[in-house]
Amino acid sequence: MKNLTVLEHPLLARALTQLRDQSTPVPAFRHHLMECGRLLACEATRDLEVRKVRVQTPLALASGVQLRRPVTLVPVLRAGLALLDAFRDMLPEATIGFVGQRRNEETLEAETYLFKVPAVRVSEVFVLDPMLATGGSAISTLDQLKRHGARRLRLICLLAAPEGVAAMEKAHPEVPILTGALDRRLNERGYIVPGLGDAGDRCFGT
Ligand code: PRP
Ligand code: URA
Repeated sequence: MKNLTVLEHPLLARALTQLRDQSTPVPAFRHHLMECGRLLACEATRDLEVRKVRVQTPLALASGVQLRRPVTLVPVLRAGLALLDAFRDMLPEATIGFVGQRRNEETLEAETYLFKVPAVRVSEVFVLDPMLATGGSAISTLDQLKRHGARRLRLICLLAAPEGVAAMEKAHPEVPILTGALDRRLNERGYIVPGLGDAGDRCFGT
């Protein structure tokens, strides 16, 4: 799993514990997902390339940096929306695309119902989806983003299953994956175990 980074951080581990707890109510669930989003955003942006600039302080010239490329954030609906604000706080200049994916609960295949993404040819593209289960939704999203011109892609999730990571490595071996935890396995219904249940339902109270 050479492209996988598991973020180890006590605050993320604490928030994830609350997210896993089935008694956590919807508002707290969204809050903890946002907390995880902030920590993931810090880590996910660590290696963004910069260019040197000079600025005039009130006292003297100082050297600094700017991001080398524009950034595009692509939350996968619905659950990816819960990570968007944290990334947007950190990257207010980012353009935003939306991809709607729904898993067919019988075949477990991803079905796309929305693809609304700005030009991404020169952007660093961050795909946001808290759950990487079979990998179907992420792979389909990345396929479509590549057809749309994206060349620099990263997948940010919170929980990943080994099955989803393996599928991603086969389909998109060059795309780095950042996750908050790598769980044990998928169950027969394609849910991550131990996981946190259905992220979209728990986030939006459906
Ligand atoms: C969830 C999740 C991912 C997908 C992961 O979405 O947010 O997008 O499942 O599963 P996969 O790796 O097997 O494709 P879901 O289809 O439940 O839609 P929702 O976010 O609207 O609830
Ligand atoms: N989607 C979810 O929301 N949870 C899982 O465990 C698997 C897919």
